[in-house]
Amino acid sequence: MEGEELIGEVLVTEEDLQRRVGELADEISRDYADRPPLLVAILKGAVPFLADLMRRLTVPCELDFMAVSSYGSETDSSGVVRILKDLDIAIAGRDVLIVEDIIDSGLTLHYLLRNLQARDPESLEVCALLTKPERRRVDLPIRYVGFEIPNRFAIGYGLDHAERFRNLSYVAALKQGDGAA
Ligand code: IMP
Ligand code: MG
Repeated sequence: MEGEELIGEVLVTEEDLQRRVGELADEISRDYADRPPLLVAILKGAVPFLADLMRRLTVPCELDFMAVSSYGSETDSSGVVRILKDLDIAIAGRDVLIVEDIIDSGLTLHYLLRNLQARDPESLEVCALLTKPERRRVDLPIRYVGFEIPNRFAIGYGLDHAERFRNLSYVAALKQGDGAA
């Protein structure tokens, strides 16, 4: 199958995404009113979320990126994480807010939190657009969450399947090849 046949049920509409991103931006702006955050977005999936979120922040912020890949199968993370692109900026003494697309098993974020914590930031928090609680394998402190979604492979609004569908303005479930979505 290819193209739109792979786009299944809508999990989060564009309208709900935009409303929730606004709420998260308000909350973050309040919490960081006196300590401008350094947003650390995780490439590539967090890009649309980051772009919408940061434009709605009313506090000054800085921005940096990391890219990681977790070894494992196409749909399962192994917990062994490789840094493909590291931060440009030193984060010691900074108020760091990680911006992630989705927390699935939590293993990638678990590694990232340990790695960044070792660099001695003033504070380190996580803002994840989506989380799949049923899949969680490690317990993590996630300060800001957009939506909890069911245990389905999600695409759109940054999330890809084989690098496609990141440009959808909503989040949908991937329709599986056997027709079971
Ligand atoms: P974790 O280590 O299992 O939490 O996986 C985290 C990463 O796997 C996310 O940052 C995504 O890049 C990717 N991922 C997990 N679930 C999905 C999904 O449903 N759709 C697309 N990518 C996903
Ligand atoms: Mg990701």
